[in-house]
Amino acid sequence: MLGAARPGPEAESLAARLRAPCYAPAPSMDDLQLHPSFAPVAPGSVRLAPGEVHVWAIPLTGEPEQFQDLLSATERARSERFRFLDHRRRHVIAHGCMRVILGGCAGADPAVLEIAIGTRGKPFLPRYPHLHFNLSHSGHLALLAVGDRELGVDVEKLRHLESLQDIARRHFSQAEFEALCSLPEDRQLQGFYRLWTRKEAYIKAVGVGLSMPLDVFDVSLADEARFLGFRDGNEDPALWTLRDVSPGPGYTGALAVRTAQAAVRLLAATAT
Ligand SMILES: CC(C)(COP(=O)(O)OP(=O)(O)OC[C@H]1O[C@@H](n2cnc3c(N)ncnc32)[C@H](O)[C@@H]1OP(=O)(O)O)[C@@H](O)C(=O)NCCC(=O)NCCS
Repeated sequence: MLGAARPGPEAESLAARLRAPCYAPAPSMDDLQLHPSFAPVAPGSVRLAPGEVHVWAIPLTGEPEQFQDLLSATERARSERFRFLDHRRRHVIAHGCMRVILGGCAGADPAVLEIAIGTRGKPFLPRYPHLHFNLSHSGHLALLAVGDRELGVDVEKLRHLESLQDIARRHFSQAEFEALCSLPEDRQLQGFYRLWTRKEAYIKAVGVGLSMPLDVFDVSLADEARFLGFRDGNEDPALWTLRDVSPGPGYTGALAVRTAQAAVRLLAATAT
């Protein structure tokens, strides 16, 4: 059930975890400044009200040890397959912190929370079917969206793209490609990432991943994020909310939620 911590040993154990500092960002990561719109909050300590969507910014800095024991055997085995220690560290922090946040929403012990994987790879909570979540990571940052509707989130660290127009021509719709090319050259990189994250947030919400061609629907390039149309006729743009959730300089992010209007709260996972 959303918003209510179950009494008993699981809730007790959760409370004990929340008293411990959950997350300590390394001060050296000066390239990761979060916008002040992301309110600093201890992971797992906020209730999710009905209809609300929380988007957590999780800095993938600091030490992973405190999260190690929270991971399932599968998650741990996956983290051990990373060749580079830094990738392993970021994976453990992202998944451990995600568990603390989801445990807080579900009222369950983060370490025993069952996270299953759908046929096309989208993780879900079989015991809490009304609690939807989606994770995205790029560079030293992860975004986790949690709510009671189908949702998807995408974050990208902005990087120079040599063949930006080729990628855009291959993946975007004709209208999006033309809108992008009409931008002054010095704004095309930002425009590209804006379109990309808005589109990827949708395909992550429906869970199909990149097996779905990105050009079968249109999103806006303008400041206001919105769906312009779905060519297959299976979706109604009016039944979706699309929002930019750009977490800080150098990053672009977007959120797609299957609801006409979503009340979105931006939170930054931080030490207690
Ligand atoms: C989902 C996908 C678009 C993610 O792209 P990305 O930009 O590289 O990655 P992001 O950081 O935004 O998101 C990754 C997270 O999304 C989640 N995720 C994985 N598959 C997902 C899916 N199909 N839908 C939604 N979310 C998914 C996971 O939590 C993943 O995090 P993890 O790898 O640390 O566990 C891409 O991996 C994809 O297309 N996957 C589908 C593959 C597929 O079709 N498989 C079918 C056969 S199983």
